[in-house]
Amino acid sequence: MNDIAPALVELLEAARMVRERAYCPYSHFAVGAAVRTASGMIFPGCNIENAAYPVTICAERTALYGAYAAGERDIIGLAVIADTPGPVSPCGSCRQVIFELAPRAIVVLANLHGMLRVTFAHELLPDGFDPASLPQVNR
Ligand code: THU
Repeated sequence: MNDIAPALVELLEAARMVRERAYCPYSHFAVGAAVRTASGMIFPGCNIENAAYPVTICAERTALYGAYAAGERDIIGLAVIADTPGPVSPCGSCRQVIFELAPRAIVVLANLHGMLRVTFAHELLPDGFDPASLPQVNR
């Protein structure tokens, strides 16, 4: 972990800490995420489940929506961590959201044992559906 930039280590640490706040009484699978903005702010997020299972929200989206809700638009980093055998793999819905809200971010995927994968939105979702696909009038 020490061979990646200190800013990414800090982001990963924020994700690791917020993971402990995950509300996951149904899956017992806690996920932490943290977003870094160009302005230098960090927005943490964890998964928050619900007895009505489909309304559960993933850690990645909690973090990204928090940043956007705070008026931040320029997302330069995203770290995600979970207790997985290898680096955690974001779900399809989160890949779509990362693709739109954090297209230029460095994405660091990790597990609790120090395994890392560094990637980007376009690698996580090749040929993703983007706003440019919509008619101008709907953008
Ligand atoms: N989950 C995330 O928070 N992020 C992911 O990338 C994968 C899945 C959550 C959703 C749910 O609360 C639990 O993990 C099990 O799917």
